Amino acid sequence: MADTLIAYFSWSGRSAALAQKLYRNLPGSSLYHIATKRSYAKHFVSCAAQAAAEKKKNERPDLQTHLSGKQVMKYDRMILIYPIWCGTCPMAVRTFLEGIRTERLDLFPVALSMKTDVRKSVEDIRLSAPKAAVAEGLRLSGKKSGEEEAYEAVMRYLGLRD
Ligand SMILES: Cc1cc2nc3c(=O)[nH]c(=O)nc-3n(C[C@H](O)[C@H](O)[C@H](O)COP(=O)(O)O)c2cc1C
Repeated sequence: MADTLIAYFSWSGRSAALAQKLYRNLPGSSLYHIATKRSYAKHFVSCAAQAAAEKKKNERPDLQTHLSGKQVMKYDRMILIYPIWCGTCPMAVRTFLEGIRTERLDLFPVALSMKTDVRKSVEDIRLSAPKAAVAEGLRLSGKKSGEEEAYEAVMRYLGLRD
């Protein structure tokens, strides 16, 4: 098992739950929460307005904590888990990727969404991490009932299940 960093962004908790389950089940993995200094509204409509404004301005919201280049260099693989926001990854995911060193990193994007597919977010992730080997992404249903299936799908995606 390669040294794995599991990095996640989450608003309503599903990406967080999946990241934590993977962390508990992948020996030697580390968990990093992509948390912004700015808080997002608890109400969906207000949060969606914030997300749309950030995307329109191509913002890079500041993060609460940073991983150093040295910290990231020890990992061979990163599983990046995020909800689709406005058709792509949240802008904070791009802040995160642009603040670390991603060469020699195999990056596995895992997106949760209601219906949008993963492709646009993978394109944006490649722009923000041009030196990483970015795999084709995996899109999972954001519905709560799918949590166990989501976990199994990620394990297959990583080649850890038949
Ligand atoms: C601000 C915002 C924007 C969203 N935009 C989309 C979208 O464009 N397409 C989609 O299918 N789902 C969209 N969703 C739904 C989330 O991707 C989905 O609910 C996801 O499972 C939430 O993950 P989380 O619990 O980790 O935040 C959006 C949700 C939020 C809060």
